[in-house]
Amino acid sequence: MMILKKTTVFLAMVILLLTAGSAQTPRDSALLRHEKEIDALIKQMTLEEKVAMLHGKHMFVSAGVERLGIADMKYTDGPFGIREELQPNSWNPLGLENDKATLFPTGSALAATWSEELAYEYGVAMAREARFRGKDMLLGPAINIQRIPTGGRTYEYLSEDPFLSSRLSVGYTKGVQDNGVAVCLKHYALNSQENNRGTVNVIIGERAMREIYLAPFKAAVTEADAFGVMAAYNKVNGRWCAENDVLLNKILRDEWGFAGMVISDWGGTHSTVDAIKNGLNVEMPDKRFFGQALLDAVKSGLVSEDIINQRVREILRVRLAIKPVPAEDANKEITSQPPQQQTAYKVASKSIVLLKNDGVLPLQLKGKPRIAVIGANTVQTMATGGLGAGVKTLYEVTPLEGLKNRIGDRAEIIFAKGYEPAAPGLGSPFRKRSPEEIEKENRERQQTAEKLAKEAVAAAAKADIVLFIGGNNRQVETEGRDRDDISLPFGQDDLMRKIAEVNRNIVTVLASGAPNDLNVVQGVSRALVISWFNGSEGGNALADVLIGKISPSGRLPFTLPVKLADSPAYALGNYPQGRRGTDVFANLVSQITPGAKPEKETTARPAGGDPNTAVYSEESLVGYRWFDTRKTPVMYPFGHGLTYSKFEYKTLSIDRNLYGKSDTINVSFNLKNTGAVAAEEVVQVYVRRINPSVEWPYKELKAFSRVALNRGESKTVTLQIPVKSLQYWDEKLHAWNDDLCDIELLVGASAGDIKLKKTVHLK
Ligand code: BGC
Repeated sequence: MMILKKTTVFLAMVILLLTAGSAQTPRDSALLRHEKEIDALIKQMTLEEKVAMLHGKHMFVSAGVERLGIADMKYTDGPFGIREELQPNSWNPLGLENDKATLFPTGSALAATWSEELAYEYGVAMAREARFRGKDMLLGPAINIQRIPTGGRTYEYLSEDPFLSSRLSVGYTKGVQDNGVAVCLKHYALNSQENNRGTVNVIIGERAMREIYLAPFKAAVTEADAFGVMAAYNKVNGRWCAENDVLLNKILRDEWGFAGMVISDWGGTHSTVDAIKNGLNVEMPDKRFFGQALLDAVKSGLVSEDIINQRVREILRVRLAIKPVPAEDANKEITSQPPQQQTAYKVASKSIVLLKNDGVLPLQLKGKPRIAVIGANTVQTMATGGLGAGVKTLYEVTPLEGLKNRIGDRAEIIFAKGYEPAAPGLGSPFRKRSPEEIEKENRERQQTAEKLAKEAVAAAAKADIVLFIGGNNRQVETEGRDRDDISLPFGQDDLMRKIAEVNRNIVTVLASGAPNDLNVVQGVSRALVISWFNGSEGGNALADVLIGKISPSGRLPFTLPVKLADSPAYALGNYPQGRRGTDVFANLVSQITPGAKPEKETTARPAGGDPNTAVYSEESLVGYRWFDTRKTPVMYPFGHGLTYSKFEYKTLSIDRNLYGKSDTINVSFNLKNTGAVAAEEVVQVYVRRINPSVEWPYKELKAFSRVALNRGESKTVTLQIPVKSLQYWDEKLHAWNDDLCDIELLVGASAGDIKLKKTVHLK
């Protein structure tokens, strides 16, 4: 009897272990509908034709097989607008007129809408523009977790939270793919820093990797059937992402059932045999490893033709699922069209976050006030700048233009730039300056700064109200390097202090894609707004919020720390590791740009630190998970954002007394708009574990919804939390596991503003 029991337990363990890493039930992927046709095509292909499909043909094209009617695969950046047409094998523009696209709000702005529906609309609009341009695969969404506040691509990425990132990734992916274009989820995986992204090895435990960093990728693959994935530049646990058997074969394909294609990031392939075997389909943008070297590897028997056939099959699945745009139809019409521009407006208008307001907003225009509009971001466009994909946009309404459009002659607007947005080292990575040049530049810069500050203070002194519009820009937040800190660049804090001496009526707007240090602006501003890198319609959307045409409804997709040193990777000394050499992509560009000299640079790094190793010892304590668990105060919490109205949360209830592991918790409560205007509230449900069997962050976001209510209106809001979504990754079993402890539901308006609580029993 005893023996039998033991055997049963043993067998159960074996089954668990076997199922943990093995394939899920095959999903009904649109990619699996042409297998017979693909068999027939592969049979007719020569080895050379197959290998030609596995590397870049041009900078943004990989080959098909013309003889067999297989069209080339055309890629486009992504993720916040369709990139202009380039000359083949060059980064120089082709010079078309029709390739002017809509600039959409970038990732953090989209995430600030907290709306899967808007992410879907965004995807629809991006796909339309991609089709106008004849593209098959969009290089986006960019869904890495925002681990460090200084991350160079925070503005492209969505959130510090895996659940919010997942919902938006799913919406975006479905929107794109429902409209005839494949997505390419990037950058898989753990490309959460830009410094040394081409060399760094991320060391991370399985649990944090699964629960935090891989979650948005998994959601987009398993829930939205993403067709493409881009392997990141970095290594994960010792292996390059583009040849990482664990990431590509075991997790992506075997576990999640991904049937599509993986392409390398540009210049991110490192081997022939390992990369092809471990799951990479296309080396982009060239053929160092997947050209002749791959042919040789097959001919010498190092790589079997079966593997080549499998990689070609995965590409053909995408090729047959996405109908190519006939060449004569591409670029016929101008890319940016009114419906997409409206989507850009809609997303922008719902992304703007009101951090603080003593009642000064919305702006009162009665009596034609004099408004001093100060700050370089008042007139700054954000479509391009820095390294990496920009958008040649048809138009971009700056905040100044937006204010003029919307306010007209109802106020007197005086503009003063206040500061010059240029800093040493932030220019072109390819232009070297002599010490004399640098000295001269510094002198001139100093003189300009003094002059601009003086003009701004004079404008402020004679104004009824100051509208300061500052923040970062695309030079400051850029691919290829992280920021050294989060302070407002170009002396903005000093300028604000000077302005505050002559006028205390200050409304501050920060057009940044990532966190800034708010210690100074917070103190001197009566209202504080974040308006992001907000796309073609950004200026109009901002003006509409400032004058109260619409109530602000964006919510922070990341925590704003009191100071950078408080944030997890910094507090634990895990970041920065120092910066070494030139960025991998800058290198790639410099190889084909005549006369370009990549800059060599090194930043001081902590003694003993290895610039090429990023240890994620904070594990799952990313963003608010860290601040909550450590009880570290923040400047503004994750999920925070005010409206021009007020909301009352009442009577939280659940639909049962006890929930099993396959049940779904229906959480209901009453929400009432008790203020004076219509507004949209983003309600959030967090889960805190009570006496759990494993360690957990203090609380985690598990449901949210955007609710629109007129003044005085109330509504019962119901949100669902499947008990399965509360699982943890069990590092011993290498599988998801239940922790069926009691939990507390925390319903509120942000991670720092919980209004209702309820204990729930799980069995
Ligand atoms: C970026 C990718 C981008 C690719 C092509 C790389 O440097 O990391 O996000 O899609 O370039 O422009």
